[in-house]
Amino acid sequence: MSGVILDGKKINQEILSELRPRIAALTAKARPPALAVVLVGNNPASQIYVRNKVKTCHELGIRSIELTPPENTTTEELIEQVLPLTTDPEVDGILVQMPLPKQIDAERVTRYIDISRDVDGFGIESLGALVLNRPAPRACTPAGILEMLQRYHISLAGKHAVIVGRSDIVGKPMALLLLHQNATVTICHSRTQNLAEECRRADILVAAIGRPAMLTRDFIKPGAVVIDVGMNRLTDRAEVERLFPGEPARLAAFEKNGAALVGDVDPSAMKELSSYYTPVPGGVGPLTIAMLMANTVQLAESHLLQ
Ligand code: GUN
Repeated sequence: MSGVILDGKKINQEILSELRPRIAALTAKARPPALAVVLVGNNPASQIYVRNKVKTCHELGIRSIELTPPENTTTEELIEQVLPLTTDPEVDGILVQMPLPKQIDAERVTRYIDISRDVDGFGIESLGALVLNRPAPRACTPAGILEMLQRYHISLAGKHAVIVGRSDIVGKPMALLLLHQNATVTICHSRTQNLAEECRRADILVAAIGRPAMLTRDFIKPGAVVIDVGMNRLTDRAEVERLFPGEPARLAAFEKNGAALVGDVDPSAMKELSSYYTPVPGGVGPLTIAMLMANTVQLAESHLLQ
């Protein structure tokens, strides 16, 4: 048996198409929605993510305001840059790309982003609203995953969801979103005992750990829905050959780029054992961007359509 692909690119296009008339209405009535994107330093993965976010803004007619302070920026200097944006009537959302350089206290920085501009849903108020299941911006990756499950009519009530990873960006908000859909939720992490056994209980398995292909065959219950949030770069040819047997296209791409992308779940195990699964790339990634655009438009509507 082979699982059905949850097509992130297709759902991304659906969501963006639904946003277009809302953006046109805002632009006609007031001004285009505006997103401030702050990228500190030169993390290559972050640079790619931010480039894709800005590109999607421009495709949709959302204004982007880019700030690129240097790698050695201090917490105070970053707050000084972010603070004026949070009261700027021309700005609807503020995104500070994570991870930040080590010397910066990310929690302190996000505290300065008012909930009215918290497009990533990382602030304390937005997170409190999530705990209480009240409206507020939701973190884009978990919100995108939920949107995908709903658009594929995958039922969640009473299902056992196991989330591997307890990050503030993905694991924790994902657990709460699934709980609010009446799933029974287990969160696993680096100190969990018998991880494979916990994962094998999952009807819905969400992997967000950042370890290449760590969840192998014995972590997946046959028929489970598997959501792979991982985006890991493989630079060892033998690893690519081992993880993608019989996929010459992957190897060719590796030869060309010097790296191949793999998620947190062993790709062939996921394909063979799951009922539905998200491919890497083309699964969760495009949804994060779609939800970022949706959150920006939602905030713009709350600022401009009173
Ligand atoms: N780093 C990884 N994912 C995200 C995200 O959704 N938003 C921000 N700001 N940084 C990230």
